[in-house]
Parts: sequence; C-alpha cells; structure tokens
Amino acid sequence: MQQSIDQTRQQFLHDIEKVHTSTDLEELKVKFLGRKGPIQDFMKQLKTVESDQRRVAGKLINDLKVFITDQCAEKESRLISHEENLQLESEGIDITLPGRKKFIGRKHPLTAAMDQMVDILMGMGFSVQTGPDIDTDYYNFQVLNFPPEHPARDMHDTFYISPHVLLRTHTSNIQARVMEQHKPPIRIIALGKSYRNETITARSHVFFHQLEAVYIDKNATFADLLATLNEFLEKLFNKKIEIRYRPSYFPFVEPGMEVDISCLVCEGKGCSMCKHSGWLEIAGAGMIHPEVLKQGGIDSESFSGFAWGMGLERLVIILKKVQDIRLFSENDIRFLNQFTSL
Ligand code: PHE
Repeated sequence: MQQSIDQTRQQFLHDIEKVHTSTDLEELKVKFLGRKGPIQDFMKQLKTVESDQRRVAGKLINDLKVFITDQCAEKESRLISHEENLQLESEGIDITLPGRKKFIGRKHPLTAAMDQMVDILMGMGFSVQTGPDIDTDYYNFQVLNFPPEHPARDMHDTFYISPHVLLRTHTSNIQARVMEQHKPPIRIIALGKSYRNETITARSHVFFHQLEAVYIDKNATFADLLATLNEFLEKLFNKKIEIRYRPSYFPFVEPGMEVDISCLVCEGKGCSMCKHSGWLEIAGAGMIHPEVLKQGGIDSESFSGFAWGMGLERLVIILKKVQDIRLFSENDIRFLNQFTSL
C-alpha cells in the first residue's frame, strides 16, 4: 500500500503542475479527494490491512490527504491573486497611480449668505418663518396696505396666475400670516424666493431671494429699528461701516426708508459697483404701518413694530464682486466652487 500511496503523491504532484485555473483546481480536488478518488480507496483498503500495521498505514493515508489539501489551498491562493492581476491588467487599472481627490461639497453662495444672516438674527432672538411662493393678492398686497388700484403695485411687476393669485413679489407676504397666528412679541425672519416680471439681464432676474426681519412689541421705536439694523449690518460685514438712511415709500411702513452702506469696494470714493456715488443701497426698512397691524389683528394703540427687507443676490454680488446675477441660478460648478463662505 505504501507504494500506491507514493505513486498517488507523485501523480498528484504531476497533475497539480498542469492546473492553471480555478476550474482545473476543482477537478483536481475531486480527482484526488473525491468519493471515487484514491484517498477514499485507501480508506476502504485499510479494513483489509493486518491490524498491527493498520495504524502506520492509516497515518500514511492521512499524511497524503493533508499534503494534497494543503497543496490545493496554496495553489488556490496563488490562482486568485494571479486572476486578480489579470483582471486589473485587462481593466487597465494602474494601482500605482495616486488616489482621486474626494469632491467636497460646498454651500451655494446664497445659502451661505442666508445661513450667516439667520445666525446673526437668531442670536438676537428672531426665528425663521416661511410662507407660500404662490400666494393671494390679499397677503401679498392688500393686507400690506396696497389697496386695489394703488399705484405702488406698479413698482412690483407682478406675475399673476389668476386675478387673485400671484407669485409673491416679496417675502413681506409672510408678515400678516404670522400676525394672524401669533400674539406679540413677534420677532421673525421671513425668508425665501420672490418673483418679479423683469427682463433677465446681468443685473436683474425674474426671481431672487429676500430676507425680511419683523419685530413687533409694546413700545418698539424707530430708535430700536436703527439700533437693531446697525448691529445686524456690523455683524454681517464684520466691521464698522457707514450707514445712511434715506426717506422712501413702502405702503406697509410709515415712516419708510432705504438703507445704504458706504461702498465696500471703493470705500466711498466712487467706483462702478456704487455707480460712482460711494453708497450701496442694500435694504428697505421702516416702522410697520398701524393699518397693517390692525389688519393682522394686533392692537395698534398698544403695539408697534419695525421691519426691514433685503435681497440676498444683491448682497453677495457686492461682497463677492459677482458680475452677473444669472450665475446664481445656472449651477455652473466653476462658479459655485469659488465660494467657501460669505
Ligand atoms: N418688501 C420690500 C420690497 O420688497 C422691502 C421692505 C421690507 C421694505 C420691509 C420695508 C420693510 O421692496
């Protein structure tokens, strides 16, 4: 039997040389270790071996089995790495190349501006409120003291969907809804898109983003408005800036004004950004008209309030010297990648 065992080992060593694929290897395993293979045969023959030699014969058979199993396992791992290399070669992957840089997403510059403004105002006790982009004439105009046929409506170039439904022209449409639902004190940030039927150019678009702050409480004064707005703008621009208030007209505030800051580009000397005036207009503001408070169900004898609203695109254009408002909505990655924060 010892001779047959040696022959089998020789045969196996001869056969394994010819194994080149995992299929070959499976066949080899079946041939030697399978039910009809030599190992099983030897086991059967073992019964006929004299009992005093059985232990020695059994050990020889077992050694052969272990030898074949080990050889097969070793061959298998060599085959696998060889096949992987072949695959890499055929796919043309060069594993010595440096890895690809991971793409790190960034905030859209408008989102960055919005987040920063909201952060500052939240620190002052304001909370964010949103409202519908498609709204009624009532909330966008009427309740804000623009009666039908009021000439100030003409300034808004409204997209009407039907005679009473429109795309909101400002985020002031959120004010009255909040007043209807909450009692003062009210400190809210009204945020979102606004729409106006304007010709699309580098300077104007049919939609833009607005942020409006609304404050209503007992004894809210014009001085409170100036102090809050000054503080907000200083935090936003991160430096002491010159602020100028000019009387202006919005039907829902009285008195109303426009807010200018000294030009951040030329520092007041005059440049193309400020149209050589040295000033940049950045917000509309005023004391909430008593009529608007009344419409919102708030007693205008006991309460007063102020509000200001500003366009986000305009702010980022100024701060980041963006040349064309259309870039904000084109999603060109080359433009967006330039901004890490406001
Ligand atoms: N809603 C005004 C606009 O869009 C801006 C504004 C807000 C003015 C609040 C005064 C007070 O032009």
